[in-house]
Amino acid sequence: MGDTPEFTAAAELADWGWPDVLALGGGAADPFETSSYGVTWRPKDRHFGVWHEGRVVAHAGLAAGTVEVGGQRFDVAGVGGVIVETSLRGHGLARLAVTGVLDAARADGLDRALLFCLPSRAPLYTRLGFLPLPEPVTADQPAGPAPVPLGAMWKPLTPGADWPAGSVRLHSLPM
Ligand SMILES: CC(C)(COP(=O)(O)OP(=O)(O)OC[C@H]1O[C@@H](n2cnc3c(N)ncnc32)[C@H](O)[C@@H]1OP(=O)(O)O)[C@@H](O)C(=O)NCCC(=O)NCCS
Repeated sequence: MGDTPEFTAAAELADWGWPDVLALGGGAADPFETSSYGVTWRPKDRHFGVWHEGRVVAHAGLAAGTVEVGGQRFDVAGVGGVIVETSLRGHGLARLAVTGVLDAARADGLDRALLFCLPSRAPLYTRLGFLPLPEPVTADQPAGPAPVPLGAMWKPLTPGADWPAGSVRLHSLPM
């Protein structure tokens, strides 16, 4: 009793959807607190979850995309939909879920990860090795390309991977 629960590594999930997100969000209607920004987000291609006592208690999603920056064009692992059961936050579960995504992205041969987040979430991702991009990223939106009004961060997934200087264009909806 009172011990810190033990969690295993994230595993790929067969199914994940908005009802699952709401279940982890403790009843919040806007669990990511981003709805007021009016961004159209891209559904994730793959989902990774941490299981505890027969249910998923933490999730992170992966959606590969293509960016152009500094005259270079390359693929990135988009990371998003990171959420942890309210009662289990602060136990390293976001780290486990994001690690599952990053390991899968490396296995797919991707050298860089990219994510968008509110300033209040940036310290978490800094702890996970992400670095801030200095300018907003331009991504697809229903009315045409537009700057994403949230911060963007990237992380090298392989030794020597860098991020070129210059404005970034993501050729998809943001993840
Ligand atoms: C944000 C959220 C995913 C964090 O989940 P969590 O399980 O509490 O995070 P973790 O315990 O795995 O934290 C990972 C690391 O980041 C650090 N960290 C987390 N939040 C932090 C903060 N606000 N400031 C500084 N460091 C923070 C932790 O100390 C930990 O560091 P360590 O592993 O080096 O000790 C969770 O609060 C949540 O689900 N929020 C609602 C949904 C949301 O906002 N998702 C993010 C969308 S971008």
